Amino acid sequence: MQALIAVLPGDGIGPEVTAEAQRCLDALARRFGHTFSFKTALIGGAAIDASGQALPADTLALCRRADAVMLGAVGGPKWGPAATVRPEQGLLQLRKALGLYANLRPVVPHPAVLDAAPIKAELLRGVDIMIVRELTGGIYFGDKQRSATEAIDVCRYTSVEIERVVRLAAGLARQRRGKLTSIDKANVLETSRLWREVVDRLMPVEFPEVRYEHMLVDAAAMHLICRPRDFDVIVTENMFGDILTDEASVLAGSMGMLPSASLGAASKGGLYEPIHGSAPDIAGRGVANPYAAILSAAMLLRYSFKLEAEALALEAAVSAAIVGGARPTDIALANGKAADTRSAGSAVIAALEAG
Ligand code: IPM
Ligand code: MG
Repeated sequence: MQALIAVLPGDGIGPEVTAEAQRCLDALARRFGHTFSFKTALIGGAAIDASGQALPADTLALCRRADAVMLGAVGGPKWGPAATVRPEQGLLQLRKALGLYANLRPVVPHPAVLDAAPIKAELLRGVDIMIVRELTGGIYFGDKQRSATEAIDVCRYTSVEIERVVRLAAGLARQRRGKLTSIDKANVLETSRLWREVVDRLMPVEFPEVRYEHMLVDAAAMHLICRPRDFDVIVTENMFGDILTDEASVLAGSMGMLPSASLGAASKGGLYEPIHGSAPDIAGRGVANPYAAILSAAMLLRYSFKLEAEALALEAAVSAAIVGGARPTDIALANGKAADTRSAGSAVIAALEAG
C-alpha cells in the first residue's frame, strides 16, 4: 500500500525515538513492498519556539491530510506550567481536533523484561491488559477558571461520549478474553454515576457475551499491582486513564516499553505515540528507549492500515531485539551493557530483515 505518515517528533527525547520508529517503518515497508512517505512537522515546545503556537495550523493541516500520525513527546522545563502557551496544549488540541476519543494502551510485560520490573515476576507472567482511556472529555477539557486565590477545573461528560468509548472497549473485549472492567469513582463523582449508568444500560443489550464489572479507581490502582492477570480490557475516563497507565507501565518494566494508539470515528488518521513523556533529563544523549515508539508504529500498522501481519512482524522484531540483548538503560540487565537508542533501533531492523 501507499500511505502518508505525519511525523511530529516534539520535544526532549521525542525526536530520538520517532527517528527509530521511522527507520523501522522504512525497513518494514521495504520487506513487505509498501511505500510509506513521511512528512515532519512541529508540535509542543518546539512549535512554540518557532511560531508561538503549540499546534501550528500547518501541523494540524498535515495531520488531517495524513493517513496516520506518529508523535514523539511534548513538554519540558523550558516551557514551565505557568507559561500562557504550554507544549501539552498542542497535544490536547490535536487529539480534540482529530476527534480521537479512544486511547488504547496495551500492557503486556515482555517475558525477558520481567526482571526489570520492581514487581515479583510470578505476578507478571501472563499479564495482558488493554487499557482504553477516554481521550477528549472530562476534566482535561472542561471549563477552567482562575483568580489569585481560587481555581476551577470542570469535569463534564455526556452519555454519548461515554457510550462511544465503552462500545469501542467492549468490542475489543469481545475479540480478546471477553471481560471488561469499567473504572470510575461513582461513590463521589456525578460524572462517574452517569458513566456507570451508561455501562449498565449498554453492555447487556449490545455485548451480552462480554462479562463486565465496575471498579472504583482507588481500588483499581491497588488491584492493578496485586493481581494484574485478572484484567482483560479496562475502560475509564480521561484523567483516571492517564494516571492508571503510568502505574501500569511499572508492570511492563518501564515507561519506555508502552505504546499507544488514539482512535476516532474516522477509519483513517489515528495518532500513535509512546505513553512516556519527553524525559528532559536524558534528552539529546541518544540513550532513550525507542521500543515504545516502535511498538506504537506497530499499532499504526494494525489499526490505521489494517496490516496485521506487518504489525506482528514488527512486534516480533522488537521482541527478538530484546531477547538478543539490545536493552536500553531503563531495562538493562544489572551486569549488562545498555544499548543506545540507535543500536536498539538497528537491532529491530536487523531482526525484521532476518525474519
Ligand atoms: C499522556 C500524557 C499527556 C496527558 C500530557 C503530556 C498532556 O501524560 O499522554 O499520558 O496527560 O494526556
Ligand atoms: Mg500521561
